Amino acid sequence: MEIIKTKDYDEMSKQACVKVIETIEEMHQPVLGLATGSTPEGLYKCLIDAYKRNKVHFDKVTTFNLDEYIGLSPEDKNSYHYYMNENFFKHIDLPADQANVPKGNTGNASQACEDYEQLIREAGHIDLQILGLGVNGHIAFNEPHTPFNSRTQVVDLTESTRDANARFFESMDDVPTQAITMGLESIMESREIILLVSGFKKAAALAELIHGKKTESLPASILKNHPNVTIIADEEALSKA
Ligand code: F6R
Repeated sequence: MEIIKTKDYDEMSKQACVKVIETIEEMHQPVLGLATGSTPEGLYKCLIDAYKRNKVHFDKVTTFNLDEYIGLSPEDKNSYHYYMNENFFKHIDLPADQANVPKGNTGNASQACEDYEQLIREAGHIDLQILGLGVNGHIAFNEPHTPFNSRTQVVDLTESTRDANARFFESMDDVPTQAITMGLESIMESREIILLVSGFKKAAALAELIHGKKTESLPASILKNHPNVTIIADEEALSKA
């Protein structure tokens, strides 16, 4: 795992932005894996800005998001699909049918998981996967003790993850208890992975990832097995490493 230390959140976002644009330029039909949450917001702003300045186009790009809450429709303001529309998709020239987010409200979630894996296979797998890191070491919604060989599936969210995400909801009761998430093994099939980490609250999990052993109690530690992972982290996130 290569580690790039940045001064702050903005520099982390810019470095990731450069890498995403390079990938789009290099590939004929690039496939990007995308994350939601606070961490990639700066990356999306930077990509939107580059698009507006005619430095990048997304018409040949296909995207796959990591996860979606069960029970929320794409129109629900708290769904990850809505987040992606607001923070990224509606500002760029990515055709709507090339932007994929797991379907959390189909009524048949396990079928939705299988369909999602099939779509990723048909797209030829993910060229560049963007990940954020949970305070408990999760990646996507693969919580501690998720088997390393997990595929896209329905998962129960831990209380720590529901707490961390409650800031987006009106009350704790509104925070969903389940989600569809790409599995750890599915994520590992990406050709290249960038893990973005910012802020003191991620410092302990990041230090454990860098110095600890590979263990299912820290889901992100599976990344140690991947041949092409770059961690882009700011000084605060690396303060305990
Ligand atoms: C989001 C996702 C999660 C987040 C992680 C960090 O799609 O898969 O694993 O990346 O929970 O969240 P933030 O960036 O809000 O700290």
